[in-house]
Amino acid sequence: MSTHINAPQGAIAKNILLPGDPLRAKFIAENFLENPKLYNEVRGMLGFTGTYKGVPISVQGTGMGQPSLSIYVTELFKDYGVENAIRVGTCGAIQEDLELRDTIIVNSACSDSSLLNQRFENLHFAPTADFSLVKTADRIAQDMKIRYSVGSVASSDFFYDINSNWKTWAKYGVKGIEMESAELFTLAAQYKRRAMAIMTVSDHILKGTQTTAQERQTSFTNMMSLALQTIVEINR
Ligand code: HPA
Repeated sequence: MSTHINAPQGAIAKNILLPGDPLRAKFIAENFLENPKLYNEVRGMLGFTGTYKGVPISVQGTGMGQPSLSIYVTELFKDYGVENAIRVGTCGAIQEDLELRDTIIVNSACSDSSLLNQRFENLHFAPTADFSLVKTADRIAQDMKIRYSVGSVASSDFFYDINSNWKTWAKYGVKGIEMESAELFTLAAQYKRRAMAIMTVSDHILKGTQTTAQERQTSFTNMMSLALQTIVEINR
């Protein structure tokens, strides 16, 4: 039992997928996992455990933004011994060569958040995804023949932009803006676990375009298959 996750020890698998939206966690459990069991309902932040191709996998909503993700992932790492965590979410693209519905395998995450300052003061930590997860996902994505690239995102504290920080990130090759990955990678470093993020481009900040609900659904399926197959292969 933890404060925000009300599950008994052993109810959560060592492999976990982390969507921001708890209803997306439910969707993943019901559509991709075999024999899913609900283990958490506290604050409506649903979590389920099932199997995929025989491998035990959990899926837990994290809420939006780094502080919310930090609560759930700290409890998952510290109290439930989660070893492999993959965030699955959406981002706004900030490079011309990206298109709506592209998949991004995230290998590092910049941030404008005060969370990094509070941890590192005047040092500049580089939140980095686990290389074995990135390498495995890269190979699987190639085999799937989907449009994808590997690169960095920036985890912003604002969804509704006020400072145009994204323009600076764009100049340095950052691919997209989202709100959670930097804290996930930093917690993985703190607890010596493996983490990665896979993003679907849901909107294009440079081009001012957005996906429809139907398009998000199809590209979401690619991202899920990629994340789940990555978990299967690193457990071989
Ligand atoms: N900003 C922040 N988070 C996001 C965005 C965005 O434009 N799109 C999807 N998640």
